[in-house]
Amino acid sequence: MKISFEIKDKDIAGRIGRLEIKDKDNQSKVIETPALMPVYGLNNPILSIDKLKSKFNAKILMTNAYMLFKSEEKKNNVLEQGIHKFFNFDGIIAVDSGSYQLMKYGDIDISNSEILKFEEHIGAEIGSFLDIPTLPDAYKRLAEENLTVTLKRAKEAKNLNLNLVVNAAIQGSTFMDLRAKAAREISKNFELNAIGGIVRLMEEYRFEDLVNIIVAAKKNIRAGNIVHAFGLGHPMLFGLAVGLGCDIFDSAAYALFAKDKRYITNYGTKKISELEYLPCSCPACHNKNPCDLDEHDIALHNLYVSYEEIRRIKQAIKENTLWEYIEMRAISHPSLYKAVRTLKKHRKFLSEFDPITKRSAFFDFGFDSRTEIYNVKSRAKNVKTENLINVKPFGNVPQEILDIYPLNVFGIKSDADDKEKVKAIMQYQFGENAAQILAQFNLIIKRSRKTKRIRWIHDNKTKELLGSVRASDHFIIPHKKLAEELHKFFKFPKLRIAIADEAVPFVKEGMNVFAKFVINADKNLRAGDECLVVDKDDNLIATGTLMLAPRECTSFKRGVAVRVR
Ligand code: GUN
Ligand code: ZN
Repeated sequence: MKISFEIKDKDIAGRIGRLEIKDKDNQSKVIETPALMPVYGLNNPILSIDKLKSKFNAKILMTNAYMLFKSEEKKNNVLEQGIHKFFNFDGIIAVDSGSYQLMKYGDIDISNSEILKFEEHIGAEIGSFLDIPTLPDAYKRLAEENLTVTLKRAKEAKNLNLNLVVNAAIQGSTFMDLRAKAAREISKNFELNAIGGIVRLMEEYRFEDLVNIIVAAKKNIRAGNIVHAFGLGHPMLFGLAVGLGCDIFDSAAYALFAKDKRYITNYGTKKISELEYLPCSCPACHNKNPCDLDEHDIALHNLYVSYEEIRRIKQAIKENTLWEYIEMRAISHPSLYKAVRTLKKHRKFLSEFDPITKRSAFFDFGFDSRTEIYNVKSRAKNVKTENLINVKPFGNVPQEILDIYPLNVFGIKSDADDKEKVKAIMQYQFGENAAQILAQFNLIIKRSRKTKRIRWIHDNKTKELLGSVRASDHFIIPHKKLAEELHKFFKFPKLRIAIADEAVPFVKEGMNVFAKFVINADKNLRAGDECLVVDKDDNLIATGTLMLAPRECTSFKRGVAVRVR
């Protein structure tokens, strides 16, 4: 099995991705992420596989290899038929090892290599080694010992070289140093990484701890890896987890909650007995009263709202409104609210991944966790001006850049003239002193007749078009001459995406730069920035819009890194 992943769209550290798994015969199965894996519980499943397929169009599901192994009858059948025939499911099947059973019952009668070989044998696409989930606030020595065993088993899984994508668990309890170490080791050897041992935190509404753990892991996971939040099945957390860079969720919650007559909403959980009215019109709730719903209906409903939440989040990524979406959800519960507030602590890290310009206007709800605040503050420092104006929540910003995203939403007029504006935007976009480049030209700045906004930057001496100004966000798009001057003025690696020789002829022809060919990326660039594409010797090849974060450019093996002009 070979797994590959590429980013189609992004917002904050969240991404819409294309995940492909190819088997030995090059048969391919593709899903879009963020993705929900419903868990098919083998003991009294509430929803059949047929229901998961027909009602939800499930393309990926998760079940438990150890539970299959434990039952003599199931084991023999699944070994004989293969897991896809056995379940009559031809999508992607992920299987968990007995780790959770191990944690619950303290002991299981199978070794790490045995369960892994069994997972391969039955033909699952995705399997797990026997990691040891360590509870939050474990004694540190125990957390360390458990992690040592988990990492040893990970090595063993790697060395077995199985025909299996290993869903490699990152453990470490609530110790951020252990989480970081685990993430580093695991993400070196596996492309699919699962943040494990977090279920108890979620049960206890310890969302701040959850955020810190996800961030500690994400900081140390290769940017191109796929991240699974193990056991994160409550839709109220999906938006936050996606924003932090999680791609896959498994939900056993829809069924476990249903067995307890608990009704999931994307803003919290209700006991069905406490509901007078149903706040939902999904097929399971439609035209019904709370007392009409049995366990099966509740499970259906719980899963409907979980899938719905994933779709809403994907739409928010498309619109670049994921922050607004997360903030809206944050109001559901004080613990979630606090967790979203504490994102301020991680603003700098997250801002690396966040696009510098967005498709939707910046709506401020008063959360100062937002990555845009960090990006604006750090770039506005490059603008030399005496005309600062306080724009909440960004603090003091140069009056000359009030037309650019995200400041444009406030509609504040400034007296700056067009040349001053263009110079300031140059500094904001490309760095300190970038305006000096313009000194050699006799600038003519033209406005659009229709919109009355700044549109073109010309040199009156040569009549050459130096750049255009994008109407939506007032970012400057450098044309050939200006790109050459930027290249001359700033030294490598600033503003540059360096590509391998083999890609140079194609990019010269105007083809996009694929992440696979990027050999170096300026760390201060952001997705959405205009960048200079150079070869390994820093010859300017093209200009274009960066589509990924710098560390994603060098980590991904697929997808477009620069959309070339
Ligand atoms: N299911 C929920 N959490 C975990 C975990 O940490 N490890 C494994 N293997 N399964 C899980
Ligand atoms: Zn419903």
